[in-house]
Amino acid sequence: MKKYIDKLNSVVNLEELEKLRIEIFGKKGVMAASFAKLKNLAGDEKKSFAAEINTLKKELNDILNQKREFLKEKEIEEKLKAEGVDVTLFDAANESGALHPVLATMDKIINYFLNMNYEIQEGPLVEDDFHNFEALNLPKYHPARDMQDTFYFNDSMLLRTHTSPVQIRTMLSKKAPIRMISPGAVFRRDLDLTHTPQFHQVEGLVIEEGDKVSFANLKFILEDFLTYMFGDVKVRFRPSFFPFTEPSAEVDISCIFCEGDGCRVCSHTGWLEVLGCGMVDPNVYKAVGYENVSGFAFGLGVERFAMLLHKIPDLRSLYEGDLRLLEQFK
Ligand code: FA5
Ligand code: MG
Repeated sequence: MKKYIDKLNSVVNLEELEKLRIEIFGKKGVMAASFAKLKNLAGDEKKSFAAEINTLKKELNDILNQKREFLKEKEIEEKLKAEGVDVTLFDAANESGALHPVLATMDKIINYFLNMNYEIQEGPLVEDDFHNFEALNLPKYHPARDMQDTFYFNDSMLLRTHTSPVQIRTMLSKKAPIRMISPGAVFRRDLDLTHTPQFHQVEGLVIEEGDKVSFANLKFILEDFLTYMFGDVKVRFRPSFFPFTEPSAEVDISCIFCEGDGCRVCSHTGWLEVLGCGMVDPNVYKAVGYENVSGFAFGLGVERFAMLLHKIPDLRSLYEGDLRLLEQFK
């Protein structure tokens, strides 16, 4: 019987332990057999044998229970070990990703204006004619609508062609002062070296009561912003036209490819157009019910900024998903 102590001690898994338990404590086990022997004994012999096997029974039972606990824990540990992930292992097949250059550029732009205390406003990608055109002083059949070739769902619903409708939504939802930017996707029926059907814009709008806001304010903030984005570039304002601003301007920076000497990218002018802007047109105020306010607005193409920041010659390559291009932005 004592050999079962050694046997129990050398068991290495729960399955073996269970077999041994039956061998010892089962109905036909050695323990039952020992107790059976008792009836053939008498007197002191019976007493001492009974005492002996009872002690042994208790001892074996204790060892069995301890062993079971130990093996259970060991099994769990082994399972955890097998299923665990070694986070310190180097996996050459899984390389780290990075922000897409358009998103990274967007973040950089947003960062500037957040620091200038502008708030972020968003609007729907599926817009109605009123917010995208009408309220922006672009009535139906106005020739300026041709400046933005539009994806229509029907007569009144469309994919927004610019982020300017968010200006309208913001002015309709609150009073001046307003100091906001609106980043997001926009859509136009365009496709060539510098145009894709979906692209991103960041709109800016600043409105104050009275006549506090001047073109000089607009000029200052955009010059400061463009220096933040592109470093030491020259900035110039060129008179232009947008139906929702008056006066309007387009803003150029000195070409960052040739530093103003003239090259293919800047069509040998030495300048690159980077955004549109102007003082908010009185007709826009009328459409949203604003009176006695002054303000400016601007809008820029994020892909255009990304191209210039990273000297990417073909805008379409930003959306081809070619890893050889994307890997350069880690
Ligand atoms: C506008 O969309 C005006 N809403 C901007 C504005 C806002 C002016 C507020 C004044 C006040 P425009 O159509 O020029 O303007 O577009 C702005 C920029 O979007 C362009 O300079 C260009 O960088 C970019 N862009 C236009 N079409 C595309 C296109 N198909 N693909 C990529 N970028 C484009
Ligand atoms: Mg333009």
